[in-house]
Amino acid sequence: MNRFDNRTVLITGAGSGIGQATVARILAEGGTVLAADISEAGLETTRTHAEQSGHADRLTTLVVDVSDEGSVQRVIGDALKAAGKLDVLVNAAGILRSVHTHECTLEFWNKVLTINLTGTFLVTRECLPALLDTGNGVVVNFSSTSASFGHAYMAAYAASKGGIQAFTHTIALEYAKQGLRAVSVCPGSIQSGMTSDPGLPADADWSLFAKMSPALNQGGFAGPENIAAAIAMFASDDGKFITGTELRIDGGTHM
Ligand SMILES: NC(=O)c1ccc[n+]([C@@H]2O[C@H](COP(=O)([O-])OP(=O)(O)OC[C@H]3O[C@@H](n4cnc5c(N)ncnc54)[C@H](O)[C@@H]3O)[C@@H](O)[C@H]2O)c1
Repeated sequence: MNRFDNRTVLITGAGSGIGQATVARILAEGGTVLAADISEAGLETTRTHAEQSGHADRLTTLVVDVSDEGSVQRVIGDALKAAGKLDVLVNAAGILRSVHTHECTLEFWNKVLTINLTGTFLVTRECLPALLDTGNGVVVNFSSTSASFGHAYMAAYAASKGGIQAFTHTIALEYAKQGLRAVSVCPGSIQSGMTSDPGLPADADWSLFAKMSPALNQGGFAGPENIAAAIAMFASDDGKFITGTELRIDGGTHM
């Protein structure tokens, strides 16, 4: 299945977890990938995987901080000029931080909101002209099950992910007449850098996490390729009548 032949896809958060798995999936389906991350080391592993699968000739890596307007404008702006076009944007970059909400500092709050929500906005704004030029551009944003269901100690993270859903609905409507589609994925219980250490408070009340286990997979976490597969569907022509909505992919944790 080569649904991304002649398509250029920019993926942020491409140095780890779901973003990295999405790079592999799009390359395997024939796409050209601009892989962006703040972590140079992470991008090196992404490149190594692409070399091992024989697809590195269609991969460009970009070190960028999505929360820094200048970095986004310079690095992504230049990459888009060099690529000449952009068909799909996948905004996977993000951080998870946990804290008791009554102890959450403004600095902590702003850091999470600035990377997750403002970063999604900055990269999307930079890419929109190129996406609109294609006449059928696609934006896939990363929300989370925490946007719709209570996840203790993650107020800033959950608020950022709720904001991403609202942002996605808005651009889906605003640019629908130019052929743009915009969707959010809401993963849960996926193995990644972020979930290997969610940094919960030392005195976390574990009884608040009773509904955090997937119904599938004997309650265990699933691999990031499960989200990459859904992104590939949304972003390809298979998803051509899907916009302004979100898909929860959590193995049935929140049914
Ligand atoms: N893993 C899950 O179960 C889960 C659940 C819900 C939502 N998500 C979302 O999925 C997305 C991917 O996360 P993941 O689970 O693969 O985690 P991950 O930690 O493995 O990957 C996140 C990537 O984002 C990058 N990043 C962080 N800050 C950045 C910045 N300022 N600029 C550029 N890149 C930056 C990191 O370097 C990392 O490579 C995130 O938006 C996350 O919130 C994941």
